[in-house]
Amino acid sequence: MPAYNSTFAIGGVSPSADSFVVKVEYIIMFCNFNQRQIAMGGGRSFPNRFNAWTLVASITDNLRIDNLTMAEKKNIFVIIGSASQNSANQKLVDNFANLIKFDFNLTIFSDLKKLPHFDPELSSDNPPKLIVEFRELISKADGILISTPEYVFSIPSGLKNAIEWCVSTTVFSDKPIGLLTASAHGQKGHEELQLIMKTVMTKFTDETTLLIQGIKGKINEQGEITDTKTTDDLTKFINAFKTLIKNASH
Ligand SMILES: Cc1cc2nc3c(=O)[nH]c(=O)nc-3n(C[C@H](O)[C@H](O)[C@H](O)COP(=O)(O)O)c2cc1C
Repeated sequence: MPAYNSTFAIGGVSPSADSFVVKVEYIIMFCNFNQRQIAMGGGRSFPNRFNAWTLVASITDNLRIDNLTMAEKKNIFVIIGSASQNSANQKLVDNFANLIKFDFNLTIFSDLKKLPHFDPELSSDNPPKLIVEFRELISKADGILISTPEYVFSIPSGLKNAIEWCVSTTVFSDKPIGLLTASAHGQKGHEELQLIMKTVMTKFTDETTLLIQGIKGKINEQGEITDTKTTDDLTKFINAFKTLIKNASH
């Protein structure tokens, strides 16, 4: 593929989630993200917001588009546990995404509240369509990231509900996973998250778990992490996460 060194986005993304095809007909709008000028994707065929961001962010970084060949990258499925719109965990995941965009393709799931309430009568034999799709996203991923607050000393009910729908399956078995708890306190929720994800047989290490306490004081409205230790901790977490996924694929 050709290299584009323009600071303007001239590319688009094919409708297929499996491959990028550069098209010149999609010109988008520009915004500021983490102090860099970034073009945000529009166009009729972007598969999701993140893929568009990945491509155009890379163009504005003057990188070669062929660095983004999706076939070479592993797929990470990200589950955001928060039930809020203006979520600190969503902002944290945006930072995570920005830091690993050249290593992985990300699919971010922030629609836990759209999933039906767990029903054991349906789970094995007749699962709802949304649940089948959710399970497939987990099953196809090379790795999972969960980023969640603590609610009432536990994990949020929406996240627990989604995991309950997977208990009768093996979708989580041996799946490398990173566990982020970003909350006011979060300790109990973080412990429970680890216990639950161990129970469904995901693979993680101490280094691929991270508790960020007092998250709202460490990330600003623009989504920038304002605390040096948190940035350092997130960087270490990401490095460990990459190693976990690399080792799992061997
Ligand atoms: C229903 C509810 C229960 C909460 N319970 C806890 C809790 O037990 N421990 C805690 O640290 N924070 C608790 N919080 C505060 C959240 O952790 C905090 O607001 C966090 O930033 C939310 O993350 P988010 O912005 O990604 O939604 C609770 C918030 C809500 C809405």
